[in-house]
Amino acid sequence: MSGTGPNGHEPARPGEGAADPIMPTSYHDTVTSQSPDAPPSALSRALRRLPLPSERALRILAYASLATQAGIIVTGGAVRLTDSGLGCPEWPRCTEESWTASPEMGSHGALEFGNRLLTFVLGVVALAMLLAVVRTLVSHRPRRDLLYPAIFLLGVIPAQAVIGGITVWTGLNPWVVQFHYLVSAVLVGVATVMVRRARRPAAVPPQPAGTPWLERLALVMLAAVAITIYMGTVTTGSGPHAGDPDAPRIGFDITTVTQFHVHAAVFTLGLAIGVFFAARLSGSAPHAARASARLVGVLVVQGAIGGMQYGLGLPEVLVALHLAGSALIVMAAVDTWYVTRWMPPEQPPASARPARQPAASE
Ligand code: HEM
Repeated sequence: MSGTGPNGHEPARPGEGAADPIMPTSYHDTVTSQSPDAPPSALSRALRRLPLPSERALRILAYASLATQAGIIVTGGAVRLTDSGLGCPEWPRCTEESWTASPEMGSHGALEFGNRLLTFVLGVVALAMLLAVVRTLVSHRPRRDLLYPAIFLLGVIPAQAVIGGITVWTGLNPWVVQFHYLVSAVLVGVATVMVRRARRPAAVPPQPAGTPWLERLALVMLAAVAITIYMGTVTTGSGPHAGDPDAPRIGFDITTVTQFHVHAAVFTLGLAIGVFFAARLSGSAPHAARASARLVGVLVVQGAIGGMQYGLGLPEVLVALHLAGSALIVMAAVDTWYVTRWMPPEQPPASARPARQPAASE
């Protein structure tokens, strides 16, 4: 947190700002929001009243965004797997008479209402992240690279609440439930990118990874992950865990859709292994090799859980683990793709390495 200088601007600190020897002019030009000599606007003065977040605080907020976005996938799954999907039969009120669940509504009401309340936790975290990022825009280390992900995460949360409401209004229509999950998966992906960006200190300019062919391969792998996940949601929509005993089902044959889902999963695993070997063999992308190795590991575990849950008749605990695994796969896949595009700060190319180490390294 910081004070302001006599002219209302942040004082430059060691390791930050235009005078920083490791910050190339072009990068600084891109990220600095206003000329230090321009008189501060009313908005900028208002923003300066907020505490300036440290880089660590930004990282913590980014991780909190990722954890809450991934967490609600699991709690939403718990609502479905306990048949509590219509625990609150109305939306936005819980019942026609009340905004909240009553003890008479039992555990189903408590679970569904509890999950609705989590939306506010997500909203608070996303708002804190956005305010923190916007605050940096009127400092000497603006984080414009975090702005769009932060806006997206905060903006989509109310939309997700409305989609959740539509699932209730439609009596848990499986296509709407599927869409609700898929939007959450996208939010987890965006939060993953935000975490990667927040881990780069402002003073270290972003460096392209410089392996476009690897980036393209990773993009194909990411598309395969998306297809696998989509087929997983079609499998769920055709399976027994509807969220309420009377909820409609998609009606596809569960064995057939599971087969499509598994074929997509095996293809994805092959591509992830391909990214790993391509990154290893290129010799220039050890960070991508590490990230894809993590992805391969999560895919193998997820496949084992998927096989077990299918073989054992879809016990709720394994389905919940498979759902949590899907969030981890989104993170690992997006992370792999991201580091094939941008070099992580701990691995700057030799040409960008400063003569001295930056103060705020990871
Ligand atoms: C390895 C990559 C895999 C990924 C990323 C993945 C992802 C998913 C996702 C996202 C869902 C939907 C969750 C939901 O909407 O609640 C799902 C459901 C399902 N997956 Fe997978 N899966 C993978 C592998 C497998 C494998 C190898 C099997 C083996 C049979 C499998 C069997 C199933 C089944 C049976 C369901 C439906 C569960 C239910 O009825 O709720 N999955 N999967």
